Amino acid sequence: MLFDIAAMAAKPRYNLLASLIVPRPIAWVTSSDARGRLNAAPFSLFNMMSGTPPVVVLGIGNRAGRPKDSARNIIETGDFVINLVSEELLEAMNVTAIEFTEDIDELAEAGLATIPSHAVGPPRIARSPVALECTYTRSVELGQDRKLLIGEIIYAHVKDDVILNPDRGHIDAARMNLVGRMHGGGWYTTTTTPFRLARIPAEGWCQTQSSSGNQDSGSLR
Ligand SMILES: Cc1cc2nc3c(=O)[nH]c(=O)nc-3n(C[C@H](O)[C@H](O)[C@H](O)COP(=O)(O)O)c2cc1C
Repeated sequence: MLFDIAAMAAKPRYNLLASLIVPRPIAWVTSSDARGRLNAAPFSLFNMMSGTPPVVVLGIGNRAGRPKDSARNIIETGDFVINLVSEELLEAMNVTAIEFTEDIDELAEAGLATIPSHAVGPPRIARSPVALECTYTRSVELGQDRKLLIGEIIYAHVKDDVILNPDRGHIDAARMNLVGRMHGGGWYTTTTTPFRLARIPAEGWCQTQSSSGNQDSGSLR
C-alpha cells in the first residue's frame, strides 16, 4: 500500500510514522526553570546526530499552543540532562509523562531521587544507567506547533558495571537494559538481544562479488 503522507490527517500520519520508525530511543529529560523548579519528561523523537561535535536532537511539540515545560526550560536556562531509561524505570518514566501543570515536580511524583550534575544546572536521575549533561545550542521551528531542540553533550555519566573499556569508549550495551519506544497504544521494546553484523570493507565486497558472479547480496546476512 502506498501512503500519501501529505494528504493524511495529522493523527493517522503521526500514528503511521511513529509505528514505522521504530524502535526509538527515549530521552528522559531533566530540566529546571529560571526559578530552579525541576521538571522531568520522556521524549522519543530523539537521537544522537553526530559524534564530533557530540550533537543530540529532541522533537518537542506544543501543548495547547504553548511550549511544553521541558522545551521552555531548556531554551530559558540553556542546559538539560538526558537520562536513559532502563526497563526497571519504565513505570516511573510513565508517571513523568503525565501532563502535569508546570508547578508539579514530576520527579517527586514518580518518587525518583536525583544527584547534582557535574556541570549543568538540572540534576540527573540517580537510577538511570546513563545520564548525558547537555548544553542547548539552538532550535529549528517545525511549523507552528513543534520544534527541534539541538544540544551538545558535555559530560556522560555511565554506570560502572556496563563499562568494558573506558579508553576506547566501549560499553556492554545490552547490560544497560535500555528500552525503546515502539508504536502507539503504549508499546515498548527491550534491547537485550543484540546480534553482530560486521561492516564490509569495499575491497572485501569487490572480491566476494567477482568470485560469486554477483549473486543476491541478501545472502551475506
Ligand atoms: C515514551 C514517551 C515518549 C514521548 N515522546 C515525546 C516526544 O518525542 N515529543 C513530545 O513532544 N512529547 C513526547 N511525549 C509526551 C511528553 O512526555 C509529555 O507531553 C510530557 O507531559 C511533557 O512534559 P513537560 O511539559 O514537563 O515537558 C512522550 C511521552 C512518552 C510516554
